[in-house]
Amino acid sequence: MSVVSKGLEGIIAAETRLGEVKGQEGLLYYCGYDINELAGKVSYEEVVYLLFHQSLPNRAELEKLTTALRAERELPEGVIQFLKAAPKKAKPIDVMRTAVSMLGCYDTSRHDLDVDEQRATAIKLVSQIGIIAAYFHRARQGLDLPPVRKDLSEAAHFLYLMSGEVPSAEAEKTLDVAYVLHAEHGFNASTFTARVVASTLSDMYSAISAAIGALKGPLHGGANEGVIHMLEEIGEVDKVEAWVEDALAQKKKIMGIGHRVYKVLDPRAPHLKEMAIKLSNELGEPKWIQMSEQIATMMRERKGLNANVDFYSATVYYSLGIPTDLFTPIFAISRMSGWTAHVLEQWSENRLFRPLSAYVGKPFGQVTVPIDER
Ligand SMILES: CC(C)(COP(=O)(O)OP(=O)(O)OC[C@H]1O[C@@H](n2cnc3c(N)ncnc32)[C@H](O)[C@@H]1OP(=O)(O)O)[C@@H](O)C(=O)NCCC(=O)NCCS
Repeated sequence: MSVVSKGLEGIIAAETRLGEVKGQEGLLYYCGYDINELAGKVSYEEVVYLLFHQSLPNRAELEKLTTALRAERELPEGVIQFLKAAPKKAKPIDVMRTAVSMLGCYDTSRHDLDVDEQRATAIKLVSQIGIIAAYFHRARQGLDLPPVRKDLSEAAHFLYLMSGEVPSAEAEKTLDVAYVLHAEHGFNASTFTARVVASTLSDMYSAISAAIGALKGPLHGGANEGVIHMLEEIGEVDKVEAWVEDALAQKKKIMGIGHRVYKVLDPRAPHLKEMAIKLSNELGEPKWIQMSEQIATMMRERKGLNANVDFYSATVYYSLGIPTDLFTPIFAISRMSGWTAHVLEQWSENRLFRPLSAYVGKPFGQVTVPIDER
């Protein structure tokens, strides 16, 4: 009798050199580096290099990658027209998924599995994904689209395009650390999706469009938006307890809490929590973090569940003045490095993903009755 692992829980689907999530210990590694060795110590661009080459860059290597990323900052005119014409009420994550798919139509090298070609495509996607999100956000408000700049880091450039102003060093650093923390996470649903699509020898743009679709769901990357909606709904610190009790009684999922792999605290959460506390105090709105803390404590005590990466990143982005519906797109911006690195790795040792299913339907041997007699 075959064993079914619902949700593929506990199944090892492939080997990877990119990331390792140690759920029992609450540890996360990128290419052998503990996330605590990276967060705050290296830039997002260094992490991009690490994921593409499995080693941290020296100055010359970083300079070369940075130049390559910045050289790709011009979007095709057709994509810009789409961002201007897309419905203003469309979800930014949907616009992003569609724009990535469109980029594929403008790239004639897309069926070439040459490693250098594909790494160039990966660099292009890492570079352009943030521009797509920022430009749509401007366009939907009827604002102009600031020309791209080549002198800003990935994090600073996104904030600049979104707001039209060069961000403070602190805002840049905060987003940069958030990018580092979200860059890679093993075989999560969206990365696995990207690898499944890549395993058919489809192209990078198809794999990434599919990954964005997977990330969007509230059980995955969409949870960070759900956290702010929840905090807004609760409204005040003294309403938290009753709200959580009620949600638990109704068997509702609390967004930003729980994890398939981590059975202890998500190691990314303390970094984001620290930034969230600092920012919400500076902003003069400490109630957000106070409410979050109370929810986290209740969930730990009542259900033995901990906060995950989305729980505090929501407050960080909110405090940076980023609109809620851009939270999941920001997750996509930072995860683009992990997704594309996984697609490259998939192609380097490809085998088509094709699992089995356990049939539990009607008995075999059903007879086709003519349509008018059914
Ligand atoms: C991430 C997640 C999908 C993992 O789910 P999973 O491994 O499939 O675990 P399950 O959904 O089967 O949950 C197991 C138990 O914990 C409970 N649980 C898990 N997460 C919960 C949450 N966020 N709120 C309330 N209860 C939760 C379930 O109700 C279930 O309880 P039961 O055994 O009494 O029925 C789940 O924790 C979740 O939905 N979290 C909220 C969404 C979120 O933050 N996603 C981002 C992940 S980084």
